[in-house]
Formats: sequence, C-alpha cells, structure tokens
Amino acid sequence: MGCRIVLLGMPGAGKGTQAERLSARLGVPHITSGGLFREHLDKGTELGRQARAYIERGDLVPDEITVGMIAERLARPDCAPGFVLDGFPRNLAQAEALDRTLSEMGTALSVVPLIRVRPEIALARLSGRWTCRDCGAVYHTLFSPPKQEGVCDICGGKLYQRPDETPEAHQHRLEVYEEQTRPLVGYYRQLGLLAEVDGEPAVEDVEIKLWAVVREACGSK
Ligand code: AP5
Repeated sequence: MGCRIVLLGMPGAGKGTQAERLSARLGVPHITSGGLFREHLDKGTELGRQARAYIERGDLVPDEITVGMIAERLARPDCAPGFVLDGFPRNLAQAEALDRTLSEMGTALSVVPLIRVRPEIALARLSGRWTCRDCGAVYHTLFSPPKQEGVCDICGGKLYQRPDETPEAHQHRLEVYEEQTRPLVGYYRQLGLLAEVDGEPAVEDVEIKLWAVVREACGSK
C-alpha cells in the first residue's frame, strides 16, 4: 500500500533531520526540494543557474521550475513504495500540483505531519547548522555536533555551510514561510491529512512521536 508523506514545518523545524530518519525506517526515498536544488547548484546545471539568486536571498524558486523537478523525481521507480517529501509543497499552487501528479499516478498522500517549533528556536538551530556534502546528514555546533569537527559521522564526508546560511536569509525564509507556506496547514487539515508533532524536544524524542503518527496513518507497512 505504501506510505507517502509530506513533512511541513518552518525552516529550522527539523524537517531534514527527521525526514532522513523516517525514510530509513520506512525504506523509502527522502526527497528534499532544497537538497535537489543544492545538487544542481553544485553541478552548475542550467536549473541551478536559474535557482541560485532565489535561494541565496531566501525566496521561493518559481513554481514552473520547482514543480517539474519534483514531478520528475516522484515518477522514478524507487518512489513506488512511497516517499518522504521535505520542503515541497511550499505554497498552495505547489500543493495542488502535487495532488494532480499523485492522482495521475493513481495514488495520494497518506499523512502530512507538521513539525511545530517557535521561530526563535528555529533561528537558533539554523545559525549553527552544518551539512555533509556527500550524504546530506545534518549537524549543529551545539545541539548535535559531529564527533570530529568538520567530518560527517556517517560517511566521513566534509561538512559545509549552505549558501543561504546568513542571518538576513534566515529571517527572510521565516517570513516567506509565514506568508506562503503556513496556509498549507489549513489546506491539509481540511483534507484530514494533518498531524501535529511538537518539534522542540531532542531529536530522538521528536523521532519517536513522529513515528507514532506515521504508523497510525500508514499501518505497519
Ligand atoms: P530547504 O532546503 O527546503 O530549507 P528549509 O525548508 O528552509 O528548511 P531547512 O532545511 O532550513 O530546515 P529543516 O526544517 O530541514 O531543519 P534541519 O533538519 O536542517 O530550502 C532552501 C531553499 O531552497 C529555499 O529557501 C528556496 O529558495 C528553495 N526551495 C526549496 N524548496 C522549494 C520549493 N518547494 N519551492 C520553491 N523554492 C524552494 O534542522 C536545522 C538545524 O537544527 C540542524 O542543525 C539540526 O541539527 C538541528 N536540529 C534539528 N532538530 C533538532 C532538535 N529536535 N533539537 C535540536 N536541534 C535540532
């Protein structure tokens, strides 16, 4: 039957951190729109060139670029048993495009967990984040430091700070979330798909609560 999840939450809520753990438990891909964009930036593709300025400012990349990129990813065979989507959709037009894409594939979302944190917590988390260039694992200088500075515990890859890790971009991303993404909470609540999870406790505690929500929606899979 599969388990198809959209993780909602403001920048810094812990979507990437939890999506990684959830996808490992379920054995389905973790699809991150921000991560896909960063791959394009690193490889210097045409799509990356078009997206760069938006990402560095903390603005949303236009829907005509983003929707196609995600639809192409969801059509790959590894998504047949399900997926964990992180960072998409981010506005109403993207949510409706996702519904259409899934309906054309003869399927639909299983559950949309909202990871809730206060903005001041999100900002503190964003300011100390480091990401593995090779496997995408996420660390924090205070809350979850790597065993060796600058080196990923999981794959030994080099840790780096993302191009949108400036105080101005952090603040702007939170504003964009409030204006454009928060309306999706009501959208998914109305569809009976929303499940709220407190994102402020330690990573492992959030993981346990999130897993309970997903198991209830998807069964034992
Ligand atoms: P994207 O990469 O999606 O960034 P985001 O949604 O802003 O979210 P983040 O990745 O910043 O935060 P997160 O919630 O994943 O938190 P994390 O787990 O890392 O998007 C980047 C840009 O790409 C956008 O600004 C836009 O330009 C573009 N883009 C992407 N998708 C798009 C779309 N659909 N449409 C248009 N444009 C799009 O955790 C944060 C930190 O906190 C980490 O250091 C972590 O170690 C720590 N942490 C996590 N959980 C805990 C915890 N429980 N306790 C303590 N520390 C924790």
